[in-house]
Amino acid sequence: MPSYPANKINTPDEQINILQITDLHLSTPVTADDSSSMYSDGMVCQRSFESILQQALSKDIRCDLIIVTGDLVSQVTSTIYDHIFDVLQATHIPFACIAGNHDVTDESGKDLPFSQRKLIARPADSRLLSRHVIETEYWQLLLLDSSITGKIAGEITPTDIDWLCKRLSRCKKPALIALHHHIIPLDSDWIDTHMAKNTERFWEHMLPFEHLKVVISGHTHQEQVRQRQGVTVYSTPSTCYQFKPYEYDFAYDESALPGYRWLQLANNGTVASWVERLDT
Ligand SMILES: [Fe+2]
Ligand SMILES: [Fe+2]
Repeated sequence: MPSYPANKINTPDEQINILQITDLHLSTPVTADDSSSMYSDGMVCQRSFESILQQALSKDIRCDLIIVTGDLVSQVTSTIYDHIFDVLQATHIPFACIAGNHDVTDESGKDLPFSQRKLIARPADSRLLSRHVIETEYWQLLLLDSSITGKIAGEITPTDIDWLCKRLSRCKKPALIALHHHIIPLDSDWIDTHMAKNTERFWEHMLPFEHLKVVISGHTHQEQVRQRQGVTVYSTPSTCYQFKPYEYDFAYDESALPGYRWLQLANNGTVASWVERLDT
């Protein structure tokens, strides 16, 4: 069984296939015989996460690494992480998890509008990674923790930027950055107020590094692709519920199914990526 977290990935050919899953939002570990209706949301997200994983790994593509980009839970409880890690370990595929806002903040009054909810700071589970490197033969994968305890928005801190600059100066392999919060506005006012802070400084510092090729994030619960400074920036759907793109105020997208993203990183620095949705 691969040890956690993934540090080095070797593949039998010259490309690496990454499965990105994000925004699992499990709120309670449930068992098959648990019929309690109070856990229905948790049950939906748990089943959706497990179905997504099963579907993705049954496809005709070799999965070399799973990256989980935050919001693993909607209620910070170590037993929920235990369950998620058990499910991921059982795949026998190397994986790595980073925190999202919901991994460091509980919200009380979830039936209330955002502005009226109370945010409660929580310590991150020790298994969630920060400033973590996964080496591959042709690529470097740089995982950041953009979450801020007790807040919905995130941040790329000056220390993160220093760390990235050092890494990218030292290693000229094509680079991928993974973090939870989005770093380019998605023209959806309510979610853009909760994106990562300090992104202009981030982009400024990334300018000299032409080998930074791709950034992946979660948080937005929708599929989006943007470009800036030659970097392709992907947002990925949640494994559970989706938000409506281009809405000024919060809105669920009832028509969008749970999803996940594949990234194929080739030895020449090119990237192929696409989203798949849960079969109905
Ligand atoms: Fe989320
Ligand atoms: Fe989030």
